[in-house]
Amino acid sequence: PPIVTIHGSADEGAVAAALELADLVEAKPDAVLGLATGGTMVGVYAAFVREARARSLDVSRVRTFNLDEYLGLAVDDAKRFRHFMELHLFGPLSIPSEHAHFPDAERAQTDAVGAARDYESAIEAAGGIDLQLLGIGRNGHIAFNEPGSSPDSRTRVIELHGATRADAAPSFGGLAGTPERAITMGMGTILEARALRVLAFGEAKAPVVERMLHGEEDPETPCTFLRGRHGDLAVHLDRDAARLL
Ligand code: GLP
Repeated sequence: PPIVTIHGSADEGAVAAALELADLVEAKPDAVLGLATGGTMVGVYAAFVREARARSLDVSRVRTFNLDEYLGLAVDDAKRFRHFMELHLFGPLSIPSEHAHFPDAERAQTDAVGAARDYESAIEAAGGIDLQLLGIGRNGHIAFNEPGSSPDSRTRVIELHGATRADAAPSFGGLAGTPERAITMGMGTILEARALRVLAFGEAKAPVVERMLHGEEDPETPCTFLRGRHGDLAVHLDRDAARLL
């Protein structure tokens, strides 16, 4: 069963996840980290940067694989997940961009199968992911595994769900400018990571957190596939996200 920690604040939850990341990199300087984007992760990366500096951690050999990327955005678009990661983590710690992997969103537009296969191969060639950070969408998505995703799904191009696009729309200046598709690691890909760390903060996540931890497995809520299918799953919540437990 997952280890669930209810923290006094979102910040405490973020720090707990960041300390574990720092411990991992200290013990294994060539660790392979699975990274996520979204507001939930901002505090995690800020705390990790602080901790890495405080410990003078050598991050020059760390390799990273992000979960997903939007399709159809210009390479220099600030909404690209690579840009988010540069801003919050790679830039502050000078992680070389060759060590930071993302699914190839440009190639995916014309060769979805090839882009997906190569991302899977790159993860495998790196020796698999040691620790994967995960947020949850309000509709229960993990990465961009939207409702309808199977537990053995692999990296692929996916149509974004209406609720996902609506949540993202403000940052794209409205629904019309919001991407319709993304390339994402699959649930099966994610479940192969050696450790999974799910973070969810705030009242808006409470219903989906309750389903993740107590609900039946349901492809309409892909986060329900995590609980019974992984031996090293920890969940960090704040009180608001844990309100319905
Ligand atoms: C996006 C990402 C997910 C993330 C989710 C929640 O859709 N693809 O990986 O978990 O948003 O984002 P937030 O942390 O901003 O609530």
